[in-house]
Parts: sequence; structure tokens; C-alpha cells
Amino acid sequence: MTKLLGVIGDPIAHSLSPLIHNGWLQDMGFNATYEAMQVPPGEFDKALKTLENGDCIGVNVTLPHKGAALQAASAVSETARTIGAANTLTYLGRSQWRADNSDVPGFIEALGQLKPETDRVVILGAGGSARAIVHALSASGVSHTILNRTVSKAQELASELGRNIAQYGSLDQYKDYIDSATIVINTTSMGHAGELLDLGDGSDRLFFDISYGKISAPQLQLASDRGWRVKDGLTMLVAQAAFSFEIWFGEMPDMESGLKRCHAALEAAS
Ligand code: ATR
Repeated sequence: MTKLLGVIGDPIAHSLSPLIHNGWLQDMGFNATYEAMQVPPGEFDKALKTLENGDCIGVNVTLPHKGAALQAASAVSETARTIGAANTLTYLGRSQWRADNSDVPGFIEALGQLKPETDRVVILGAGGSARAIVHALSASGVSHTILNRTVSKAQELASELGRNIAQYGSLDQYKDYIDSATIVINTTSMGHAGELLDLGDGSDRLFFDISYGKISAPQLQLASDRGWRVKDGLTMLVAQAAFSFEIWFGEMPDMESGLKRCHAALEAAS
């Protein structure tokens, strides 16, 4: 019997997760299929009920349902509980689900080796994605500053998850903070509005934008022109997918092949 996996979100049509996971399922010979499941806000629990049968192994969950996924689970990992969001549910049978958060290990994997003694990170934005990143940096002992358009949200995030090593400030003053940073991470949705930040001279420091494709391209180009080493969000997307896959199957898939498929799909679409 073919098993079912998928990603629940709204919107979901442009998700690369089915491409990534179905590629791995085929490569590794699992008899399962991974589908995009469009579920409007407020209908998450109803949708989950339809999956409570022997066919479903688990689902990824994305906006706007990451909080609802946590609420629906009877078992919750410590990371998901701390962040207040789950992106991976595993069906345990008898209407019971376990919630995990693979965004955190995905982020750490994508960012690469951190040096808590010398790294100073500036995070732009204080939304849902920034929560996972602040949690990961705090747990790794890396000092960081959260800058947000709405300063009170940066302040809240720093005090809630920053473990005394997070500072906060206004996005308006990003130039003052970026000078002393070794890594800058953009989690804002400014790219969607076509707004760009002039980060100044990069001097081979890292600029990591968690968006990808057309959304992040102009900002990454600008940063690269100014001497920053740049990274887009595809590695993080593939890495969180790989950690979810490992939760469901107990085996780590090949991230490189997932990344290649995503690059090919984005190129074909452009
Ligand atoms: P995600 O889950 O991807 O983090 P989100 O929770 O909607 O998305 O958060 C979006 C982030 O982008 C927020 O930090 C938001 O700032 P506010 O808290 O002030 O709303 C930021 N953001 C969105 N549009 C922006 C813009 N035009 N300029 C600056 N920041 C922006």
C-alpha cells in the first residue's frame, strides 16, 4: 500500500516540498507519495482528521498553521514547545500526532559552523522564521541582535527566546548595527515588496537571506556587489525537509540531490 505524506499550508501551490520529498522517496525506494495540501485558516483540525488512517505517515505544516499543528499534537518536542510552532507532524495512530520542529536543525545545518567566541549575528525581522533562528543561536551561545520595523516585537522575541545574549533594536538603524556583525540574516518579507537594504561594505562577511528565487535575487545581488558572501534560503529549505524525512523514516536523505532538483525547478520557471 502506498503511504501518504504531504505539506499543509495556504498558499501552498508553489511549495518545493513535494519535489524535494518525492525525489528522495523515489531515490531511496520508499512506497510513499508526498502531496501539497491546501487548507484555509481555521480548517487545520478538520483536515488533520481526514488523514487519521493507516495510510498517512506524517505531514509538514507551514503558514498559517504552525501554531495549530502544535495545539493538535498529543506529544510535542522540546524545541517545538519552546518556539511555539511545529512544522512536522508524525501520525502515531488512534488520532494521536507528535509535533517536531525541523526548522531549527535546518537553519543550523544551512548556516554551517558557528563560532560562539567570535561570531556576532544581526537578524533582520522578528516574525515566525526569526523565532526558530533566535532559538537556535541562543542554544548555540552565539550573541545576536534582532532588528525589526516594529521594535516591540524584537524586544519581545529577545526576552522570550534570547537567553540573555540577544539584543534588539530598530530596523531603521540597521547600518549602525551591521558594522560590527560577522553574519547578517534577513528574515523580513521586504523582498516581496521589492524593497532593498544597502548593507554597506561586506568585506567577505556572510549575508544569508532566508528567501529564495526571484524574491531574494535582487537583495543577494546587491549584497554580493558590495563584497558580501551570500547565501539564499534554499539550503535551509532542503535541510529542514531532510530533518523531517529523517523523523519519519529514520534515515537521512541526500541534501545535495534535493538542492539540485530545486535549482533546476526554479531555473525552469524563470
Ligand atoms: P515569517 O514567518 O516569514 O517570519 P512574518 O511572521 O509575517 O513572516 O514576519 C515578517 C517579518 O518581516 C516581520 O518582522 C515584519 O516586520 P513587522 O513585525 O514590523 O511587521 C517584516 N517586514 C515585512 N514587511 C516589511 C517591510 N516592508 N519593511 C520592513 N520589515 C518588513
